[in-house]
Amino acid sequence: MKYTQSPYTKQVLKHSQHPKNWGMLKDANGTATSVDQVCFDQTTIYVKIKDDKINDIRFVTGGCPASVASSSVLSVMVKGKPITKALNITQKDIMKELKALPEYKLHCANLPIKALKEAIEDYKKKSKTK
Ligand code: FES
Repeated sequence: MKYTQSPYTKQVLKHSQHPKNWGMLKDANGTATSVDQVCFDQTTIYVKIKDDKINDIRFVTGGCPASVASSSVLSVMVKGKPITKALNITQKDIMKELKALPEYKLHCANLPIKALKEAIEDYKKKSKTK
């Protein structure tokens, strides 16, 4: 049997096979699910925010290895950080951590970024209603 070379970097394979911060967060105060409009994969992000800092984050992705790896590195990048920093993370930042994604997989990195922004918005809305 002949095997083909993986299209993914070592970093993508590591984070997709052993994702950090995978799962639900029961005491989350911000949650959002983002659905990719191309492939319809989805990512849900749960955040626990206090004093405008992301104290904890978890995610669940029903998506490809690139989206799992992107969600994993994103969660590591923002955990313990102020929400202002989290809101400024771009696809380029994720690429830097993963070293690269194939061109046709670039959209996968946007899925967790969008879900995180919406989870922070959810937190802000809930904070205002208290
Ligand atoms: Fe759908 Fe990657 S192919 S998120």
